[in-house]
Amino acid sequence: MNNLELQKINKHYSKKKHALCNFSFIFTNGIYGLLGPNGAGKSTLMNMITDNLLPDNDNGKILWNGEETKNLKEKFRSRLGFMPQQQNLYESMTAHTFLNYIASLKCLDKKQSEQEIPKIMERVELTESLDKKMGGFSGGMKQRVLIASALLGNPELIILDEPTAGLDPKQRVIIRNMVSDLGKDKIIIISTHIVSDIETIAKEILFIKEGHLIESGTIPELVEKVESGEKTLENLYMQYYGEVQK
Ligand SMILES: Nc1ncnc2c1ncn2[C@@H]1O[C@H](COP(=O)(O)OP(=O)(O)OP(=O)(O)O)[C@@H](O)[C@H]1O
Ligand SMILES: [Mg+2]
Repeated sequence: MNNLELQKINKHYSKKKHALCNFSFIFTNGIYGLLGPNGAGKSTLMNMITDNLLPDNDNGKILWNGEETKNLKEKFRSRLGFMPQQQNLYESMTAHTFLNYIASLKCLDKKQSEQEIPKIMERVELTESLDKKMGGFSGGMKQRVLIASALLGNPELIILDEPTAGLDPKQRVIIRNMVSDLGKDKIIIISTHIVSDIETIAKEILFIKEGHLIESGTIPELVEKVESGEKTLENLYMQYYGEVQK
């Protein structure tokens, strides 16, 4: 069982901008939904976990199976699959070339990744587009190639920052099913502001607001906190943020 522990992590972008405040949580194997509206701090948190953004220089710690990730360095990064929120694809590359390129950046064994790439592309339902240039892909196809790139090397910690952004309902379902199939032997963290993306697949949900973890738990635990109306996660979202984004 893997364990990712955040101990009181903070991020100030400037003296005034405190984007993450004393954020503590323990993740174990399973799917976690990170819910919050624009600007809540989801990407900041994910970029810090994945070592793309330095935490404030204070007592905050990020531990992977008990060891600080900043000391584990490559040992941690090799176990990680990350899909950042905003990414540009190399439009003139084929999906195959792109995935090979990412595999080489991750220092994966060339032979192994050659075997892995077609399997991953099948998983994201893009087998027929493997050797096509990505410039001709729809938004949903591009998102799925990016998810595929995060799956290379069979990571034990998968972090997907708004993988369903901009997608139509059908594509969202494809991604939801795919994430749900990824296996229960990994830690998977998905950020979104769309409750339906994660409410059927997440083991636990974290609600983040203005950099604070305001609530977390399983869905049955969380819906009990709804103060008025039907006990649904969407109503809880509304209670915390005053709106529902669909
Ligand atoms: N590089 C930066 N410099 C200054 N402020 C930043 C920077 N990046 C993010 N912020 C601020 O930090 C806060 C959290 O931003 P973050 O991108 O983590 O939110 P988010 O939950 O991912 O939002 P979204 O749903 O829009 O992606 C916001 O107020 C944002 O304006
Ligand atoms: Mg974001």
